[in-house]
Amino acid sequence: MHITVGIVGGGPAGLLLARLLRRAGVDCVVLESRDRAYAEQRQRAGILEQSTVDALRSCGAGERLDREGLVHDGIELRFDRRSHRIDFPSLTGGRRVWVYAQTEVVKDLIALQLEDGAPLFFEAEVRAVEGADTDRPTIRYLHRGREQALTCDYVVGCDGFHGVARSAFPDGVQRVYERTYPYSWLGILADVAPSCDELIYAHSPRGFALHSMRSPFVSRLYLQVPNGAEPADWPDERIWDELDARFAVDGDWRLARGPVTAKSVLPMRSHVLEPMRHGRVFLAGDAAHIVPPTGAKGLNLAAADVIVLARAFARLHESGSADLLDAYSDTCLRRVWRAEHFSYFMTTTLHADPEQSPFDSRLQLSQLDRIATSPHAAAELAENYAGLPLG
Ligand code: PHB
Repeated sequence: MHITVGIVGGGPAGLLLARLLRRAGVDCVVLESRDRAYAEQRQRAGILEQSTVDALRSCGAGERLDREGLVHDGIELRFDRRSHRIDFPSLTGGRRVWVYAQTEVVKDLIALQLEDGAPLFFEAEVRAVEGADTDRPTIRYLHRGREQALTCDYVVGCDGFHGVARSAFPDGVQRVYERTYPYSWLGILADVAPSCDELIYAHSPRGFALHSMRSPFVSRLYLQVPNGAEPADWPDERIWDELDARFAVDGDWRLARGPVTAKSVLPMRSHVLEPMRHGRVFLAGDAAHIVPPTGAKGLNLAAADVIVLARAFARLHESGSADLLDAYSDTCLRRVWRAEHFSYFMTTTLHADPEQSPFDSRLQLSQLDRIATSPHAAAELAENYAGLPLG
């Protein structure tokens, strides 16, 4: 079998790319190693930037998002028992964000893809991507017990941090930039109406906490926990007590409790591979870069990569020019590094490093106070959070 673009990975990046390529008239196949139920259930991020929403709408995946997504015009920062709201539209020339879970984005994209009949194979386990330096790179995969080979004009690896596409790059052609953090997140889903209209990012001497949501009836909450923590260390009562303590604010705000329906621990890491292309193999999303979740950038960065890539393939298809494909890595990395910095900044400003000195804690509070009192400092946060325009 031969195809123009072989896409490894049927997460949001691979699926969105497939939709955008279809719109551009470029044929492709998506190979996803997991089954459909797994792909549709994995709990991930929940914040979409304007450019991500625009891309989803442009390929027909905006209908349920427009009906069920929650439009947010700001976030609340909590520190020193005070609350401060950051208003996005007034600070960014009108930009805002949508609360719509990645699982829902994936469900919508899968439904569209299967409806159109464009090939999307689940449980297609990619073993190797070969021939990045040739003009016929090949994806070798196992499907229904049979070894298969798909030759492509181009291969795009959207298969995440542990994916195989990146191994198509010969040793020595990529540089890795990395940072780990001395804490993780414990995330819960709870069947209770959110206790806020907008997300709350809380700095406290006990560590970071985040109040997010999935719907008017479902709350999503996170707590900073030590690396190596297990969900079993955290009975529900202990989680709610700790959330109460970290969100504590002067005034009469209360956190509503409800049945916890999911509980998991997420690692925090920053990671960038450069370049994002070798020969005819391209990497997009988590396969090329990871951000800690504090800035809600991971899914949006993945979407930005494939938007840039789809435009480049459209250009090649229409005019024969590979100029945008050749610029892909540099174009994406500029945005990637901005998001890396912002995510690092949000993470290190809001979390309590177990090693941090009282001096470090004072610097964090001073920085948060600066954001709360200077429209310039607030605008810097708002522009990055709401997302830089894609151009
Ligand atoms: C989420 O709702 O899962 C979420 C929201 C904001 C973040 C991270 C995660 O910064």
